[in-house]
Amino acid sequence: MANRIETIGVLTSGGDAPGMNAALRAVVRTALSRGLEVKGIRRGFHGLLKGELFDMNSHDVSEIIQCGGTILQTARSGRMHEEAGQKLAAEQCEKYGIDGLVVIGGDGSYRGAQALARHGVNVIGVPGTIDLDIGCTDYTIGFDTAVNTAMQAIDKIRDTSTSHERCSIIEVMGRSAGYIALWSGIAGGAEAILMPEEDDVNEEYLIDSIRAMRNMGKKHFIIINAEGIGDSAGMAERIEAATGMETRATILGYLQRGGSPTCKDRVFASIMGAKAVELLLEGKSNRAVCFQKGEFVDFDIEQALSMKKRPPEKIYDMAQELSV
Ligand code: F6P
Repeated sequence: MANRIETIGVLTSGGDAPGMNAALRAVVRTALSRGLEVKGIRRGFHGLLKGELFDMNSHDVSEIIQCGGTILQTARSGRMHEEAGQKLAAEQCEKYGIDGLVVIGGDGSYRGAQALARHGVNVIGVPGTIDLDIGCTDYTIGFDTAVNTAMQAIDKIRDTSTSHERCSIIEVMGRSAGYIALWSGIAGGAEAILMPEEDDVNEEYLIDSIRAMRNMGKKHFIIINAEGIGDSAGMAERIEAATGMETRATILGYLQRGGSPTCKDRVFASIMGAKAVELLLEGKSNRAVCFQKGEFVDFDIEQALSMKKRPPEKIYDMAQELSV
């Protein structure tokens, strides 16, 4: 693939996240202002394989910074797990004259990007997922909006939970990571936070806590349960049976993925989108844009994918202390 960058491609992949449009707008406008051509790719890698590409101009990204979702649409492409799909995707980049590709998505999308880099495509990853579960970065596009949405929902459920003196279990997204649970649980003043990274809180513990808190005069109880633990409906039945406290489960689900991005998601996504183009222009490839220790940095995608992180234990312990 050419080292001189004249045309870049951009796609969004995996689960959509509020702020992806802001990142896309930054990619397109930065590239155009540096004299590059931009091809938008619809439906992620799936669209790349199918040749769903179109030329983008500045007007195409007008009026989108405030919109949730992704105007490019997105998909999870199983074919990118296979060598044949990866090879075809690289050939498509060649065919459409893409000298550099910006992939906005989660770690599954990074793996696709990494595979393309192995096939000679200049590629840069921008972290877009509400789950905050990419090891190399302290920020991912969409997390801030998603936790604010979850927090607002918890506040509303708290109103009715308090009125009825009930226990409420609220299940939040995050796949196998507990970041959304931890953040929304702290912000929503939850009595308990269940996340897959911790094994010290089990149902027996919860039941004992509810009994103890009721003896102390507490009338309601909010439990934030991470998707990675799941079974909120079953849990509600068992807690009600054991404690006698009416218990309801609410799964927040996809409403956490939608909505107008927060200021933070718009600004961080804009910075990361612009940085992705700059990296390509500096001749860099196979890099992931990240935010670490207060700075926007970039890592080799291979290295980025090997980095591990988990929700900070200290903050989880603090949340438990605050909930009593
Ligand atoms: O990665 C974002 C996310 O919303 C996860 O929290 C959730 O587990 C998953 O995507 C759901 O994916 P899909 O919409 O493909 O079912």
